Amino acid sequence: MQRPVAMIAGLGAAVPSTVITNADLEARLDTSDQWIVDRTGIRERRVLQPGEALSDLFVTASRDALAKAGLDFSAIQAVICGTCTPDRRLPSTACDVQAKLGGGPAAAFDVVAACPGWLYSLTVAEGLIATGTYDRILVLGGDRVSSIVDQQDRGTAVLFGDGGGAAVVTRSTGGRGILGTSLGADGSLAELLYIPAGGSTEPPSDKVLAEGGLYVKMAGREVFKVAVRRMAQACQEVLDRAGVTADQVKLLVPHQANLRIITATAAEAGVPMDKVVVNVDRYGNTSAGSIPLALAEAERDGRLTAGDLVLLVSFGAGFTWGAVLLRW
Ligand SMILES: CC(C)(COP(=O)(O)OP(=O)(O)OC[C@H]1O[C@@H](n2cnc3c(N)ncnc32)[C@H](O)[C@@H]1OP(=O)(O)O)[C@@H](O)C(=O)NCCC(=O)NCCS
Repeated sequence: MQRPVAMIAGLGAAVPSTVITNADLEARLDTSDQWIVDRTGIRERRVLQPGEALSDLFVTASRDALAKAGLDFSAIQAVICGTCTPDRRLPSTACDVQAKLGGGPAAAFDVVAACPGWLYSLTVAEGLIATGTYDRILVLGGDRVSSIVDQQDRGTAVLFGDGGGAAVVTRSTGGRGILGTSLGADGSLAELLYIPAGGSTEPPSDKVLAEGGLYVKMAGREVFKVAVRRMAQACQEVLDRAGVTADQVKLLVPHQANLRIITATAAEAGVPMDKVVVNVDRYGNTSAGSIPLALAEAERDGRLTAGDLVLLVSFGAGFTWGAVLLRW
């Protein structure tokens, strides 16, 4: 097994205070609590309100992560933010968070990889540490999915929520840290989960707005199948690369999209459900926030012990997917 070069030295997460329950959705959509729970396992989700920003969640999560790592923000050399719902088109949300935490000169940039955005960012951070470029990187992941979902579309509105997390990633000590990563993508599947307009090809216009072109379009059933297959493959690949078997994994932290996807992925990966972190019932799918939120909850709940092998896996629009194996 290779020796890790980078590790998570501190972890934090944050969600908005506003809760939207299935009963709230029943009141305004043609849906039911039973349908949502049976098909997804989701009972409630959190959403940011006007006047609140995704970067505010990142600031809260970052302060927590920095405190746990025993570092001041001034020690951070780069801020990498996995998100597909930046506060604004320019600058990057990483720059906005950096400003709120005290300003430059740390490098700051966003990584757009949809739900696996935090795993992609973690992998980039590991590479920057491995090449000796930096020693201390703040890795953010989160989304304000409520801003890109049509709240009148029952097919998507019930699935998503807002949230984010942060990790301080440093040079590894004591054998802790990232043992292996596996990232992948298949852009030919883009139309299974995408936003048709609002980019540079078709900028926002009255026509785009009227056609709902700024909202997520999704082929749910197809997404489901590809998600399970790709996440199971990514798990196997990262375990093989590290020379580890599934039964050695102490905790699986899968993307929290849907309880049925989580259960199917865990079964395919050979990890029993008592070793799987599930919080989709309380937050829904928070996209790039999903894994850091779940990992931070697992740490808070005492489910992570030093030396444990922890497997993280995610998938999302692109299609993108990724898995990371950690020694905690
Ligand atoms: C979206 C998802 C829960 C739908 O479950 P499903 O079992 O595939 O259901 P279907 O899409 O086939 O729809 C079944 C029926 O429920 C209806 N339906 C859809 N959303 C509904 C809702 N919120 N409430 C009630 N009924 C709903 C559909 O219109 C359909 O009705 P019909 O049979 O009369 O046409 C499921 O496909 C899924 O989780 N896919 C993955 C989505 C995902 O994770 N996306 C994010 C990726 S990062």
